[in-house]
Amino acid sequence: MRKWSIRILVFTALGFAAFWLLTRPQTLPDNAFADLIGDPSAGEQVFWAAGCASCHSAPDAKDEEDKLVLSGGQRFPSPFGTFIAPNISPSPEGIGGWSTHDLGNAMLYGSSPKGQHYYPAFPYASYVRMKLRPAGLQDVANLHAYLQTLPPSSQANAAHDVSFPFNIRRGLGLWKRIFINDYWIVSVPLDDQQLQRGRYLIEALGHCAECHTPRNAVGGLLYDQWLTGAPDPSGKGRVPAVNALDWSAKDIAYYLESGFTPEFDSAGGHMVNVVENMSKLTSEDREAIAAYLKSLSEK
Ligand code: HEC
Ligand code: HEC
Repeated sequence: MRKWSIRILVFTALGFAAFWLLTRPQTLPDNAFADLIGDPSAGEQVFWAAGCASCHSAPDAKDEEDKLVLSGGQRFPSPFGTFIAPNISPSPEGIGGWSTHDLGNAMLYGSSPKGQHYYPAFPYASYVRMKLRPAGLQDVANLHAYLQTLPPSSQANAAHDVSFPFNIRRGLGLWKRIFINDYWIVSVPLDDQQLQRGRYLIEALGHCAECHTPRNAVGGLLYDQWLTGAPDPSGKGRVPAVNALDWSAKDIAYYLESGFTPEFDSAGGHMVNVVENMSKLTSEDREAIAAYLKSLSEK
């Protein structure tokens, strides 16, 4: 009897130890940003490409000036509960005290400065691919420099409304191990600079797949159905497929700039914010996105 209870104790302890090790938050090496100086004007382009304002501006922000106050407060309902975007403005209530390294860990590993996991409602499952391009870390440094130029907000963060077991952040460590893919989804010729750039903008910064790719029951993206359309996260309607558009590359680039489709419909739903962000990129970047999407329909 006694022998058995000791065995059970030992196995339970080993189980906890394995869980603890497997779910440990990952971080960048300490010196990852040692030689990088952030350029705020280059960071502004990263900011629009990555769509930070779409989620972190206040729910009632209307004009562009309001949208640059990243006070948080927008609610994101999901099958697991409702997530509320935090304040990421440069203030004590926001991320005013954060280093570039802290921002890098949040975006590239989904890990907080206190060593907790973030929920993937923060689309780091896409941003992690910034690690795959040599310029990705520089982009984090530039973005950090730009965020510091934005207006501070003293808005306090609201707690997420998420129930057991999803309220235990440590468990997200397992989710990340299974569902985060920090490699490119589509292969692109090494010497094709335009497609390389397009892939970086779509698969990493623009996190297009977070809406345009379906998910499994626990919220993991189905990478083998890349950009083939998905139920709308709001619960109403569908996000269309963008892997087989019969539009020309020019049509796609024009849509991203203006919101007009070739049939002169205009973009609706969540895509309105995305177009607003894309319209602030260079025309070369919009053309690179278009080239990547066209290359999918030729595959
Ligand atoms: C689709 C919506 C969405 C987008 C886009 C988004 N975020 Fe977030 N972000 C969230 C949510 C939701 C959380 C809360 C995650 C949590 O608490 O686990 C969050 C958390 C964060 C945090 C952690 C803040 C803290 O107090 O610990 C930082 C930093 C952050 N986001 C920065 C950014 C930056 C920079 C961008 C653009 C590159 C961005 N986010 C884009 C939704 C988003
Ligand atoms: C927050 C969710 C979301 C994100 C992120 C998103 N989209 Fe969309 N997208 C939509 C929705 C919803 C529509 C449908 C819009 C409509 O009904 O007018 C759409 C429509 C489109 C269309 C038009 C397709 C058609 O047949 O009408 C294109 C092209 C497109 N998105 C490309 C992109 C690209 C490129 C990105 C990444 C830079 C992206 N989307 C990111 C939600 C999103």
